[in-house]
Amino acid sequence: MRAITVNKPATLDNLAVTDIAAPTPGAGEILVQWRASSLNYHDYLVAIGGIRVEDGRIPLSDGAGDVIAIGEGVTQWQVGDKVMSAFFPNWAEGEVNKAKTAALLGDTVNGCAAEQTCLSENSVTAMPDGYSYAEAATLPCAALTAWRALIVEGNLQAGDTVLVEGTGGMSVFALQIAKAAGAYVYATTSSDDKIDQLKKLGADTVINYKTDPKWGPTINKLSGGGVDHVLDVGGSATLANSIDAARVGGHISLIGILGGFTAELMLPKMFGKQLRMTGLSVGSVEMQYAMVKAINTSGLRPVIDRSFSLEELGAAFHYQETGKHFGKIVIEY
Ligand SMILES: NC(=O)c1ccc[n+]([C@@H]2O[C@H](COP(=O)([O-])OP(=O)(O)OC[C@H]3O[C@@H](n4cnc5c(N)ncnc54)[C@H](OP(=O)(O)O)[C@@H]3O)[C@@H](O)[C@H]2O)c1
Repeated sequence: MRAITVNKPATLDNLAVTDIAAPTPGAGEILVQWRASSLNYHDYLVAIGGIRVEDGRIPLSDGAGDVIAIGEGVTQWQVGDKVMSAFFPNWAEGEVNKAKTAALLGDTVNGCAAEQTCLSENSVTAMPDGYSYAEAATLPCAALTAWRALIVEGNLQAGDTVLVEGTGGMSVFALQIAKAAGAYVYATTSSDDKIDQLKKLGADTVINYKTDPKWGPTINKLSGGGVDHVLDVGGSATLANSIDAARVGGHISLIGILGGFTAELMLPKMFGKQLRMTGLSVGSVEMQYAMVKAINTSGLRPVIDRSFSLEELGAAFHYQETGKHFGKIVIEY
């Protein structure tokens, strides 16, 4: 079967299409034929060597496809079922711990950039009703992170105010989930061309973070004292503004490092505002099931910017690198 591997030195032009033996499911495992995947910034870091992985690692955390064989003792799935991967295949439910998050698809273990993968039957979920494979493949990392930040950790209520930053996959899902839950959404982007797209998805107020470098204080003022929930994706580039944008007693989800890995914190602002900050990494299979249930009732559909074939994975990452995309870039097999 076809698979893509990350090879030393890890660069986008060194991703290799290889032919490897198709796996056979063991006891408790299912064999999934992937039909689509999608790109996350995490996958990009793996592909360029920003996150070091074993030589020959199969990348991509996200996948959607068909169960084509089941191993002995499998009870949850049948051949023909449509399933989606989970970012942490061993974090089925409950509180996070080291053991549950040790396996990470496309990073510490092989991911979905292959035609077929064997997985434990407990490490996938059903796809939302009526979703295409491409749509379902956008969910496991980006959408689940947004869901966890807002619904699980943030306990978002209708009428709350939310700030989402940039127009990447995770942030666009956060906008959609927040609007579906009845929130008022502030969004930022570096591109005036993307403002209309954000508004069409329901963003109530959009600010260009390049032309207004003090967008945090601006949002604090516009919202009459700060927003309830902030999803910080820029790290070094955004955290100071994110803190300024939050209200007293607000919640900041520390999610991304698009602008750098470190940040200086103005500590008196943190305790003066009595902020709650949650560092989070995606979520559990149990959270993914809850998100799929909510998608089935809300009718939320992912925003897919462009689709590439598996062989074009390097080109797809080059496109992601430009930052021109809005929402998700998908890979179809
Ligand atoms: N912790 C987790 O569990 C988790 C899960 C998913 C993602 N993440 C992180 O979240 C971030 C976004 O991931 P993604 O997969 O959604 O990426 P992506 O699709 O590649 O998003 C790229 C977009 O982010 C925006 N951006 C770039 N630099 C920015 C900055 N300094 N400030 C604000 N926006 C900026 C740009 O939007 P505009 O063109 O509109 O400016 C750009 O198009 C990454 O750091 C990723 O590692 C973390």
